[in-house]
Amino acid sequence: KESRAMKFQRQHMDPGGPSNNSNYCNQMMRRRNMTKGWCKRVNTFVHEPLVDVQAVCFQGNITCKNGQPNCHKSNSSMNITDCHETSGSKYPNCDYQTSHKERHIIVACEGNPYVPVHFDASV
Ligand code: A3P
Repeated sequence: KESRAMKFQRQHMDPGGPSNNSNYCNQMMRRRNMTKGWCKRVNTFVHEPLVDVQAVCFQGNITCKNGQPNCHKSNSSMNITDCHETSGSKYPNCDYQTSHKERHIIVACEGNPYVPVHFDASV
């Protein structure tokens, strides 16, 4: 079974990206299995080395959107791509708007080793 840490990597890590094209989210949301059964509404990909994203678990501790205390904000801004489902998107033809950004990321971490398991926000 896929661990929560592996699920985070599947859903949120793309260190080699971003490919410079407006179809990025349409391709990646499908390739990373987020358009099976339903279209995941919003999702962020992080274009930084895995070790740098894992290190965020040991950076500034903040409260998550759901009230849990295990969120962490990156000290540095990171290259990310936000994917938002468009208003015209209709499952199974999931359609996304692609926005490249440079932001501080906020992730929730769990376990031993203490690693990212959820992408909470970018600021
Ligand atoms: P599920 O995987 O059960 O849906 P995301 O896709 O946004 O990265 O989230 C991954 C999972 O982490 C989601 O659960 C989400 O509900 C969960 N999650 C949300 N806040 C969390 C927190 N503070 N700590 C751990 N997990 C959290």
